[in-house]
Amino acid sequence: MTSRPLLIVVLAAGQGTRMKSATPKVLHKIAGRSMLAHVLAASRDLGAQAIEVVIGPGMDTVRAEVGKETPSARVWVQEKQQGTADALLAAREALARHQGDVLVLYADTPLLTTDTLRCLLRRLDEGAGVAVLGFEPADPTGYGRLLTDASGWLTAIREEKDANTAERAIRLCNSGVMAFRLDDLLGVLGAIGNANAKGEYYLTDAVEIAGAKGAKSGVVACAEDEVLGVNSRDQLATAEAIYQNRARLAVMREGATLIAPETVWLSWDTRIGRDVVIEPNVFFGTGVTVEDGVQIKAHCHIEKAHIGPGAIIGPFARLRPGADLKANVHVGNFVEVKNATLGEGTKANHLSYIGDGSVGARSNIGAGTIFCNYDGFNKSRTELGEGVFIGSNSSLVAPVKIGDGAYIGSGSVITKDVAPDALALERSAQEERPGWAAKFRTMMSRRKAKAG
Ligand code: UD1
Ligand code: MG
Repeated sequence: MTSRPLLIVVLAAGQGTRMKSATPKVLHKIAGRSMLAHVLAASRDLGAQAIEVVIGPGMDTVRAEVGKETPSARVWVQEKQQGTADALLAAREALARHQGDVLVLYADTPLLTTDTLRCLLRRLDEGAGVAVLGFEPADPTGYGRLLTDASGWLTAIREEKDANTAERAIRLCNSGVMAFRLDDLLGVLGAIGNANAKGEYYLTDAVEIAGAKGAKSGVVACAEDEVLGVNSRDQLATAEAIYQNRARLAVMREGATLIAPETVWLSWDTRIGRDVVIEPNVFFGTGVTVEDGVQIKAHCHIEKAHIGPGAIIGPFARLRPGADLKANVHVGNFVEVKNATLGEGTKANHLSYIGDGSVGARSNIGAGTIFCNYDGFNKSRTELGEGVFIGSNSSLVAPVKIGDGAYIGSGSVITKDVAPDALALERSAQEERPGWAAKFRTMMSRRKAKAG
C-alpha cells in the first residue's frame, strides 16, 4: 500500500442515456451485483480511509445502493453535469479535510482489480504527483490520449475532440482512473477551465496544471479488459463475459471441474468447493455455496442455496432461495426446492415440489410429491422426520407433520399429522373383477364385427 491515508471518490453522476433504461446506469448488474457495488468493493479492498460517491440529483436508488454496500461512504450530489473535474469538486468538503492521497474511480468501470489499483498508487510513492491508469485499446476512438515526454512522464491528456491528427495517432489512452498526491489538489481543480470542445471541466486537465506547478505525472498501463467502460447494453454484455471468464477460472483454480466452462454462469459471490464437478449449462444466481465433492449435472438453476458435501443435483433441478441441502442429498430431474432443508442422505429424485418445509435425514421423497404450501392466502410448513418414505404422487397439505420412519402410501393427499412409524393411506380401496378384461374384449370385438 501507499504510505499515506487514501480517499477514494467514485464518480456516478452520469445518467447513462445510452443504456436506454429507467434504471441509472451504475445500478445495472454484472454477475448479479451492480457495477457501483463492484467498484465500491474494490475501493474497500484497497483499505481506503474514506469513500466518497458523487451522484446526480434525484438518484435516490443510487444513494440507497451506496448505503447498502458501504454504509460508511458519503454521498455528494453534483447539481449539474459539467464534466469530471466539476464532479470531483462536488466532494470538495471531503477533499479539503483529507490529508493524503486521492483516487478517482468511475462507477461504470466495474472490472478493475485491486492489484492494478495498488500498482497505480505505488506510482505516487515513486514520486508522481498524479498517476494515471493507461491502456492501449484495440480501438482508441473516443478516449483521451496520453501525451508523454522522452522519459515516459505524462505531460498532458488530450480529449479526442480537442486532439490534433498527430495526437489522435497515439495509442496509449486514458482509462479515467487517476490518483493524486498534491499539496493543493483543490487549487489545481479550481484552476481547470472549460475552454474545450465540449465546454466541460475536464479532470484530465489536472495533469498540465499540476505540471506547471512542478508536479510530475506518471502512467501505469493495464489490460484493456480491466478498464472497459460500460455505456451501452452491448458493453454491459462484454463486461459480463469478461467477468464470467475470470470467475470460471478462479473456480477451476480452486479445484472444481467445469466440463464446459463457457456454459456455466456464476455470480460474484458463488462459492464452490474442491472436487465439485459441474456439467454444462448450469446457472448460479447470487448467494450459493457448494461444498466439496458435489456433482451438479447439466441444466440446473440455483440461487440463494446451500449444497452440502457429496450431494448430487440434477439434471434439470431448480434450487430456489432458502434451499439447504445437507451432505449426500440427491435432488434429481424436475425437482424444485424452495425454503426447505433436506437432511443428510435424503433423496428426492424425480418431479417434485418441496417448498417451505424440512425433511429429516435418510428420507425418500417419491416421484411427483408435492408440498402444498399455499392456500391462496398464507404459506405453511411441511415437516418430515428422519427415514420417512413418501410414496409417489402424494400431496402433503401444509401445515402438516410426518413422524420419523412413517410411510405414506402412493397417491395420498395427506392433510393430518402422521405418527412415527405409521402407514398413512388416503385413497379409495382397490377393486378387482377377475376375467373382466377378457370378457370385455370379446364383447367389443363381436359388436364391431356385426357393425362392420
Ligand atoms: C473520460 C475521460 C477520458 C477517458 C474516458 C475513459 C475526461 C475529461 N475524459 O471521458 O480521457 O479516456 O473517460 O472512459 O475525464 N461524470 C460525472 N459528472 C459529470 C461528467 C461525468 O459524474 O459531469 C462521471 C460519469 O458518470 C462517468 C465518468 O464521470 O462515470 C466519466 O464521464 P464521461 O462523460 O463518460 O467521460 P468520457 O467522455 O468517457
Ligand atoms: Mg465514458
